[in-house]
Amino acid sequence: MRYREIPGTGIKLSEIGFGCWTMGGPNWSTSSGQPIGWADVNDADVLAGVKAGLDGGVNHWDNADIYGNGRAERTLADCFRKLGIKRETQVIATKVGHFKGTAVHAFDPRHIRNQCEQSLRNLRTEYIDVYYFHHGSYVGAGYDAQGNLVGDHDYLPEAAATMRALVKEGKVRAVGQSAYTVEDFERAVPVLKPQVLQNKANLRYDEFIRPGGRMQELMTRHNCVFVAFGPLDQGILLDKFDPENPPKFEEGDYRGSRKDFNPDTLRGVREKLAKVRQRFGSLPGAASDPVALLSSVASRWVLSHANVASAIPGFRNERQARCNLQAASDPAMSQDDAGWLRELFRN
Ligand SMILES: NC(=O)c1ccc[n+]([C@@H]2O[C@H](COP(=O)([O-])OP(=O)(O)OC[C@H]3O[C@@H](n4cnc5c(N)ncnc54)[C@H](OP(=O)(O)O)[C@@H]3O)[C@@H](O)[C@H]2O)c1
Repeated sequence: MRYREIPGTGIKLSEIGFGCWTMGGPNWSTSSGQPIGWADVNDADVLAGVKAGLDGGVNHWDNADIYGNGRAERTLADCFRKLGIKRETQVIATKVGHFKGTAVHAFDPRHIRNQCEQSLRNLRTEYIDVYYFHHGSYVGAGYDAQGNLVGDHDYLPEAAATMRALVKEGKVRAVGQSAYTVEDFERAVPVLKPQVLQNKANLRYDEFIRPGGRMQELMTRHNCVFVAFGPLDQGILLDKFDPENPPKFEEGDYRGSRKDFNPDTLRGVREKLAKVRQRFGSLPGAASDPVALLSSVASRWVLSHANVASAIPGFRNERQARCNLQAASDPAMSQDDAGWLRELFRN
């Protein structure tokens, strides 16, 4: 395993970090009623996956208060306790922003403090290594100076001040911003001054890591590193779904509402992945397991980009965890290979 530093913090992230979303099991959005979690999660399988990750050098665990409404944080802490893991050897990231409980907005400073305390309790820790604001929609329902409920209250300045206070109090070591548009990042970063940015990045979706893109400019200017979720695109980049018989997910599995699991998309990806297997499968030392080979190529491609510190695939059991660790033992990807893959997936 290789490790990359978050500038100015002394925190070193394993290049392959493990996403903890699946650990939370199923839960549903309180606003839309849609599933926002994962079905059929088995705690013994998760424990075996966490152990495999630790054995393979993973020290970076990406969690959030909304994952299973706290269950994912509690499960991670349970795994560490059962495995006798010392807290200070691990980098625990968690987030606030999507779970609003009974607050008028999740970025209300008192709610941020509530959730921070709850995450500390769930994770059985005194501090969070990387604490993210989970999205960049800071404007929403809130109170104006006269106490009237308005729809366009801007929480960014007060949320940023609250985060700074949490750092000062020793509850947070590094500040993170997760967001879903470049515009949201560009607005939040100069105010919040995070050290870590997080969003999706993979062979099919590279807007946030693209060489020469606006995000690169932003990260270089503000000295931020990037954590990439979705490196395997929830299994799509592993060629595990049959285009002629697209998956039907269990009730409670968030993927049921994703549009990408359709025959045309899966067929198009399969054609490209056949070429990937052809190019990388015959290299000396290539993984013999075809899924591990694709997992490694997908994660190492993301890691070959400037400013990316860690890619965080999810897992639900030991087999998947081991497979996703293949990238950590394979050599770093050359720019030549990275460019070839970029061309292949361009359209
Ligand atoms: N900041 C944000 O807003 C945000 C958003 C999304 C995710 N994240 C973070 O990023 C992490 C990763 O999320 P993600 O969207 O990439 O989803 P993911 O966690 O990679 O998707 C997990 C699913 O991918 C499949 N999978 C993973 N590895 C596999 C393997 N080796 N073989 C076969 N199947 C495999 C499994 O599917 P099956 O269930 O079919 O076995 C598993 O349930 C999350 O856990 C979370 O920490 C953050």
